[in-house]
Amino acid sequence: DRLPIIAIDGPAGAGKSTVARQVAAKLGLVYLDTGSMYRAVTWLVLQQGIAIDDECAIAELASSCEIQLTPSQDLQSPVQVWINGTNVTQVIRTVEVTSKVSAIAAQTAVRKALVKQQQSWGKRGGLVAEGRDIGTHVFPDAEVKIFLTASVTERARRRQEDFKKQNLPEVNLEQLERDIAERDWKDSTRKVSPLQKAADAIEIQTDGLSASEVTAKIVDYCQERL
Ligand code: C5P
Repeated sequence: DRLPIIAIDGPAGAGKSTVARQVAAKLGLVYLDTGSMYRAVTWLVLQQGIAIDDECAIAELASSCEIQLTPSQDLQSPVQVWINGTNVTQVIRTVEVTSKVSAIAAQTAVRKALVKQQQSWGKRGGLVAEGRDIGTHVFPDAEVKIFLTASVTERARRRQEDFKKQNLPEVNLEQLERDIAERDWKDSTRKVSPLQKAADAIEIQTDGLSASEVTAKIVDYCQERL
């Protein structure tokens, strides 16, 4: 027996992180951001100067690295991400890591290693897990499955806001749209567990909705189901 699992999947910038974190806080569950794990491995690959198509070296790295996610109580401050003892919370959000992460996340050995870790963290349940393959692959028996979407324009606008809030240099909106569309395409066409709505997931289109409105919808739905 285990506690419930809530799976939240969707494309880049659909608001998964904010919403998943709020849902976890409201329901007293642990929040798991699986994207930050793929980003951390990508950072390590770049930092060690490994070529992104060197699947052997990357497989070795992914299966031997130690990733730690330490949530903070304050919903405004980010979950701290550590890999092999280095705090990479900020560096995994750079354009450089973001532009390479999908190529790394498409590699079978990388997914195997990270999914194994995620499943071991989820053994007892009690999670709101967020990513691309949570409802389809990582936790196919999750009690609640949500697929969050939004138009590319809306998602690019949200990313731009994120950059502003973090005082990062401004990024051009069209460039953001192109990057997001490219990452969507890579994530949904890859061979291993592509981004896909699980057959039993409910889809929420979030254009024009605030994060707290989406959270409220999901919390209501969970309370009906659990
Ligand atoms: O969610 P986030 O934008 O941080 O994810 C970064 C990248 O990690 C995604 O574009 C995708 O390539 C990969 N990812 C994945 N499976 C997950 C979560 C993220 O392949 N469960």
